[in-house]
Amino acid sequence: MIGKLNHVAIVVPDLAAASAVYRDTLGGDVSDPHDLPEHGVTTVFVNLPNTKIELLHPFGDDSPIAKFLQSNPSGGMHHICYEVDNIIAARDKLLADGARVLGSGEPKIGAHGKPVLFLHPKDFCGTLVELEQV
Ligand code: CO
Repeated sequence: MIGKLNHVAIVVPDLAAASAVYRDTLGGDVSDPHDLPEHGVTTVFVNLPNTKIELLHPFGDDSPIAKFLQSNPSGGMHHICYEVDNIIAARDKLLADGARVLGSGEPKIGAHGKPVLFLHPKDFCGTLVELEQV
């Protein structure tokens, strides 16, 4: 069911500092920041040959990642995103297997304009998993 690793998301307390680490220290191909008010985040992409790293910083007052940053003031890995061909079929299989889908269970349009779902970390080895239909 799962296909390519689409991205690994890392929440950071300082986007400019994190961009500098990825650009200057690690030599990565780092994008400019993009504000996504509807998602409550500002993102920077690090484009790697085989996947992406998504640096996330809270945008606005009720950012879904604000709490994460409070608990992890230095930042940290937030989620991993796997590609699926059919997100509804994937969801239905996961639910049938007893996995928990976060929120309403209906896919939302994610940060890349494609349908996404998030899966409960306790069902997936302690890792928040995002599925994205590509
Ligand atoms: Co993501």
